[in-house]
Amino acid sequence: MAFVVTSNCQRCRFTDCVDVCPVDCFHADADMLYIDPEECIDCGACVPECPVEAIFDETQLPDSQREWVALNKDRSTKLPVINKTQEPLATAAARKKELGF
Ligand code: SF4
Ligand code: F3S
Repeated sequence: MAFVVTSNCQRCRFTDCVDVCPVDCFHADADMLYIDPEECIDCGACVPECPVEAIFDETQLPDSQREWVALNKDRSTKLPVINKTQEPLATAAARKKELGF
């Protein structure tokens, strides 16, 4: 089991989540972050940090977001670790509003 970053992260990339991760298992591309399921220790600390509720326990994922289990596993291993908060994307404020947060 692991935690999973889902589509709400796209075009946001707030990165508040990375600061609290005790095992540095977040990886990033230009659009969003992914969790390496081999490294995640299921602590859940990242979940309340995300302003757009993008992170789920994989066992509680809505069916519509199930594809993100494989996407996190695949992409995280090919992308660099991110363990320091960065500026959100320029599109983040608009995307957050669009998502209803
Ligand atoms: Fe990191 Fe814990 Fe979130 Fe897993 S659940 S990504 S270990 S903060
Ligand atoms: Fe993405 Fe939320 Fe982290 S928007 S970068 S999962 S704080």
